[in-house]
Amino acid sequence: MKEIIKPVGIIGTGFAVPENIISNKDLTRIVDTSDEWISSRTGISERRKIGAANNTSDLCAQAAEMAIVNAGITALDIDLIIVATVTPDMIFPATACIVQEKIGAKNAAAFDLEAACSGFVYGMAVGQQFIATGMYKNVLIIGGETLSRVVDWQDRNTCILFGDGAGAVVLQEVPSGYGILANYLRADGSGADLLKIPAGGAAKPPNEMTITNREHFIKMAGNDIYKFAVKVMGDAAMEVLTRAQLTKEDVDFLVPHQANTRIIEAAVKRLGLSEDKVIINIHKYGNMSSASIPIALHEAFAGGRIKKDDIVVMVGFGGGLTWGSSVLRWFEK
Ligand code: UT7
Repeated sequence: MKEIIKPVGIIGTGFAVPENIISNKDLTRIVDTSDEWISSRTGISERRKIGAANNTSDLCAQAAEMAIVNAGITALDIDLIIVATVTPDMIFPATACIVQEKIGAKNAAAFDLEAACSGFVYGMAVGQQFIATGMYKNVLIIGGETLSRVVDWQDRNTCILFGDGAGAVVLQEVPSGYGILANYLRADGSGADLLKIPAGGAAKPPNEMTITNREHFIKMAGNDIYKFAVKVMGDAAMEVLTRAQLTKEDVDFLVPHQANTRIIEAAVKRLGLSEDKVIINIHKYGNMSSASIPIALHEAFAGGRIKKDDIVVMVGFGGGLTWGSSVLRWFEK
C-alpha cells in the first residue's frame, strides 16, 4: 500500500489579547516589587488581563476567526480544532468544544491538549499528522490562556510574569518543500513538581484546606525552570534543525516561548544567532504560556518580517516538564 504523507504548513494566523493592560507600575500597588526589578529580571513591561465577562474560549474563538479569514476558508471547512491550554474554561468539556460552538465550526472534531508552555508546538505536531495521513484537510491549532485567573496575586515571584491571550493557526497541505520540515517533542515528568497548580484536579479536589493554602494558584521553582529552559531551548533548536538536515546558518527566524528575555538571550547566545533573527514580544504581553509562540508568530508574519521561503524555528518549554521544537519553510500563496 502506498504511504500518504503530505507536506503540511500554516496557511493563516490570528491572535487575540484583552484590552486591559496591567503595567509594572500597576503591580507595585499589589505586591512588593518595582518596575526596575521586573524589567531587568524578565524583560516584561506590561501584560494583558481578561475582564470578568470573558474566558479562555472567547480569546481562542477571536484568534481562530482571524486565522480562518486569513487562511481564506470558512469555519465550516475546519475538520479539527485542537486547543492547547492550561487554563481551560472548565476541567471538562474541552475548551475546544466551546470554541467550536462559538465559531460555528459545525463539521469539526475538537479536543484539548495539555503540554503547558510547549502546548502550541505539541499541537502543531499533532495536527500535522491528521493532514499528512490524508484524514483531514484543515486543522485549527489554538494556544489560549487566561493565566490571570490562576496566578496568586499575593506572590511576587509569579504574578508579575504571566498574561492572557490566544494565538491560532490553520494547517493545510502545502506544496512540496514547504511547511513543517521536522518536529522534536520531549518530556521529563521527574520535574513535574517544579511548575504546577497543585489543587483542583482529581488528586486534590478543592476543599477549605486547599483554598486556605492557596493551592489553586501557580507554584513555580523559578530558578530551576530557568536553568532547564536555557539548556533545552538551545538543544531543541539544534535537534530539530539536524532532523531537517539544516544548520543554524539556515535559520531566518527563531520564535521562542516568551518566558524571560534573559532565557531567550542566553539560548540565542548558545545558538550563535544574531538578535535580529529572534522574535520577541514579551515586553508587551508577559508569559502567555501556550499562546506566546502563536502570537509572536502572527505578529512577525502580519508585520512583514516573516516571508515566503523563510526558515522559521519555534521552540517551547514549560511545565511537565515538556519541551519541543518545530522547523518550517514558510509558505504563502
Ligand atoms: O513558561 C515557563 C515557566 N516560567 C519560566 O520560564 C520562568 C523561569 N524563571 C525566571 O524567569 C526567573 O527565575 C524569575 C524571573 C522567576 C526570577 O528571577 P531570578 O533572577 O531567578 O530571581 P530569584 O528568584 O533568584 O530572586 C532574587 C531575589 C529574591 O530576593 P532575595 O531572596 O535575594 O532577597 C526574590 O525574593 O528577587 C526577589 N524577587 C523579587 N523582587 C522584586 C522575586 N520576585 C520579585 C519581584 N520583585 N517581583
